[in-house]
Formats: sequence, structure tokens, C-alpha cells
Amino acid sequence: MDMDWKGKTVLLGVSGGIAAYKAVEIASRMRKAGAEVHVILTRAAQEFVTELTFREISGNPVNTGMWEKVTHWNVEHIALARMADLVLVAPATANLIAKLAVGMADDMLTTTILATHAPIFLAPAMNSNMFRNPVTQKNIKDLQDRGMEIIPPSSGHLACGADGVGRLPEPVEILSRVEGYFCKAGALQGKKILVTAGGTIAPIDPVRFIGNRSSGKMGYAVAEAAAKRGADAVLVSGVSALPDPVGVRTIRVETTEEMLRAVLEEFPDSDAVIKAAAVADYRVKQVAGQKIKKSEGDWSIELVRNPDILHTLGQQKTHQVLVGFAAETQNLMEYAKRKLEKKNLDFIVANDVTAPGAGFQGETNIARMIFRDGKVEEYPLMQKTELAAAILDHVERLLGAGME
Ligand code: PMT
Repeated sequence: MDMDWKGKTVLLGVSGGIAAYKAVEIASRMRKAGAEVHVILTRAAQEFVTELTFREISGNPVNTGMWEKVTHWNVEHIALARMADLVLVAPATANLIAKLAVGMADDMLTTTILATHAPIFLAPAMNSNMFRNPVTQKNIKDLQDRGMEIIPPSSGHLACGADGVGRLPEPVEILSRVEGYFCKAGALQGKKILVTAGGTIAPIDPVRFIGNRSSGKMGYAVAEAAAKRGADAVLVSGVSALPDPVGVRTIRVETTEEMLRAVLEEFPDSDAVIKAAAVADYRVKQVAGQKIKKSEGDWSIELVRNPDILHTLGQQKTHQVLVGFAAETQNLMEYAKRKLEKKNLDFIVANDVTAPGAGFQGETNIARMIFRDGKVEEYPLMQKTELAAAILDHVERLLGAGME
């Protein structure tokens, strides 16, 4: 891939591993491609590579500590966090990864990473046992779940003499991963993508509610992927324990009516809406102001219909691409097609929520996409992040964004 990095400010973090020398080539290649490169060396990194090398290669002063005299910009230390379009840490040692996983900020690199809103890429490199250690694996997973991109280490002969996984990939491979991000980032630039996720609830009284099994994973994956493609991504989230996705403006709601209000507010200037939320179709007619006390005999609750948000959008749509989901337990295709037509959608993502590996809560899904012209695409068991990418590919196509 031959990318133009002009106008991009990249913060290159180097932590203390034997592979730190490869970061010199990474900095050099990025600068040659037109990026503005700023380097932060941890204290341990300075045992392997020198500040002088990176100063010459990047053409910028190098940050080596929290307390050095700042002569090159007149702002506080988190200036770097603000100016970066992207942060790349290569190599990322087990120690650095552990510190990031718990949110420590005891040096310039960890402080900057904690403060930045820019996308963060980590390229772990270490001894294979350290890499495979469950603690390191858990830390990496936690960071991934928080939206950091992990560039997996390669296998081969390690500096410690052993063979195994843990080598820092070659600079060109690392840069191609990062370039892939910048490429995708352009695709939805200037487009507003509205996503809903999670379940809405129907409160009964101040302590009880009727809810559903949605975790929010499917919709959060779509919102985060849209942000990574450069969209102005807005997520209206029902109940979900997930943290706000990186780079996404997240609005939290609980009930269907609250979701409807938030969605209608964001809808007019949206370019596409992807409704992955599991929306409560009914609400409790009379929500009690106080906790309902237990009494003898049975109890029944009267439910009334909630508005259908997606149907409302289908009626109001002007230029927006509308994507719905269909969560079914039987007659998947028939019911999904009916929803596609009735709600005036561009396409619908149908998932049989009884199939193992599909639907609620897990990391994976199995889906069929049904389009207005009757075309059907089948997707096998895949990560929800992968399905999110496939959905956005179609949204891009329908928006014509990919052709600009
Ligand atoms: O969140 P996860 O745990 O990752 O699970 C993912 C998921 C199973 C929730 C997701 O893949 C999914 O299928 N979401 C849609 C769930 C649903 O409510 O489907 P439905 O067939 O009842 O509704 C059809 C469409 O209309 C959906 O896009 C829904 O958001 C929308 N709808 C439904 C009812 C309503 N009152 N208003 C709506 O907008």
C-alpha cells in the first residue's frame, strides 16, 4: 500500500525492548511518507535507543520524561495527546501493556495515552512466555475491548534465544496495518452515521422493569467501526454495560420513548441509521411511583404498545440509508422481509437468535442481509466486529461514499 501520510500527526511511543531499534525505521518511513512524527521514549527505551537518533529521524524534539524542561511548545504535557491523529506504540512491552490496562500514568507515554482521544495501535513484543502468560493476554484483551488496535507479534527467533511468538513484526508490516486504518478512515469522512444498540426497558416501579437480553455488542461494534472509517458516529444506546466506544458520541437512554426522542433529534442530518437495538415493543401502562408491595395472589400488569422507532424513521426518511435488524426465533426470512418492506428499509440484517453463536450477548453472530431488490447475502458465524464491517461496506456502497 502506498499511502499519503501528509497532514497526519503521529505519536510514536517506544518502550524498552530489544526491538526498539525497529522503531527508528518506523519513524523514518512515516516521515518520508509525509507524516509529522513525534516520539516519546520511555526511560527503559533509552537503554536501547537514543533520543538523538529519533530527533534526527523525526525532525522533532523527542520526549523522554515528564519533568524535562519543555522548550518546544508552550502548553502542558498533554499537548501531544491532543495533537495526535494516531498513536502507535512499537514495541509495546508487557510492562507498558500492564500499565495501560490498569490506567496508570506514571511517565510521559502512559500519561499521553491516557489523555488522548486518538486511535491507539499497540505492537506487543516480548519473550513468548511473557506474551502467552494469561495476565498479559487478559491485559491485551482489556485494551482491545477498550478500542485499542493490537498488531499481533510474529513468530520466530527471539532475542532471548528461544523460538516462538513475540517478535515485533517488520516495520513495513506494522505500517501497512496503520495505513489500513487511514484508508478506511477516509471512506465515511463527512458522513453522519446514527446507530442504536442495547435493549430498552419498560419500568414497572422504581425497582423493577421488563427488559431483554441485548448486551449492546452488535451495535457498539457498528458504531465504533463507523468512527474508525471517519464518520461522525452517534450511538443511541439502551441499557448496556459496555463502555462508550472510542470516537463515538454516545447518548444513553433507558426506555423506548427516550430512544425515539434521541433518535428523532439526530435523524434529520444523519446519512445512515443502523438500528441494532432490541427495542421494547410494550411499556407498562401505569408505572408505579413507589415500590409495589407483595400481596396475596397473582399479579398482572397491563402493557400498552410503544412506538416503532424504525417504522417512524421509514415514514420520515428523506435521503437517509436505513438499516434494520430482525431478531427472529422462527421463519427468519419471511419475517425479516416483511419488516424490510413495512419499515421502508434499504436492507435488513436478519439473525436467528436461537442459533448457537448468533444473536444476543456473545462475541459472534450469524446473519443474512436482505436488500430491497430481493438480493440476499449470507454470512457464516463471524465476530460481531466483522459483521459490523460488512454492514458498513454496504452502507458505504449505498451512500456512494466509496466512489468519491
Ligand atoms: O446486543 P447484542 O447482545 O450484541 O445482540 C445483538 C442483537 C440480537 C440485539 C441484534 O443483532 C439484533 O437483532 N437487534 C434487533 C433486535 C430487535 O429488536 O429486532 P426486532 O425484529 O424486534 O425489530 C426489528 C427492527 O425494528 C430492529 O432494527 C429494531 O431496532 C427496530 N424496532 C423494533 C421495535 C420498535 N418498537 N422500534 C424499533 O425501532
